[in-house]
Amino acid sequence: MYIVRPMRKTKMTLLCVLLGLFQGMVLPSCETNRGELIPYLEFDIYLLLYADLADLGIGGTKLIDGGVNGIVIYRESDLEFHAYDRTCTMWPEHDAAVTEDPTFFGVFECPVCGSTYLLMNGGEPNSGPARYPLVEYSTSLNGDVLRIFN
Ligand code: FES
Repeated sequence: MYIVRPMRKTKMTLLCVLLGLFQGMVLPSCETNRGELIPYLEFDIYLLLYADLADLGIGGTKLIDGGVNGIVIYRESDLEFHAYDRTCTMWPEHDAAVTEDPTFFGVFECPVCGSTYLLMNGGEPNSGPARYPLVEYSTSLNGDVLRIFN
């Protein structure tokens, strides 16, 4: 038969400290890479296919204003478009906008941490510390009007 005795205050304090340390080791800290969370902004952008996007060929990219740090549009095929926020997802609070790698088409790189993202692969990180893809906004094509919205 076990007898449960109340713990002494010092043992209880020690147990709490150890549990706190263990939790800190197991659970991700708020100070480390949280990824994927960038501020939510509601917007609607309308672009004309044969005017605003006339210079955007298949496989090409175009930078526009909007979102948190600008938007990069990637044209996957004749009628398929993707719109990504340019905020690096490694530490979104840095507010750094990814820019196109001059040597690799469709690869965007964070100027701060060096993370690279592949637009033809859903904006997934390709190298560097980032673990989460660029945030993608919704798009719809109605006639010759591309809508980008959140
Ligand atoms: S933006 Fe700060 S790490 Fe890429």
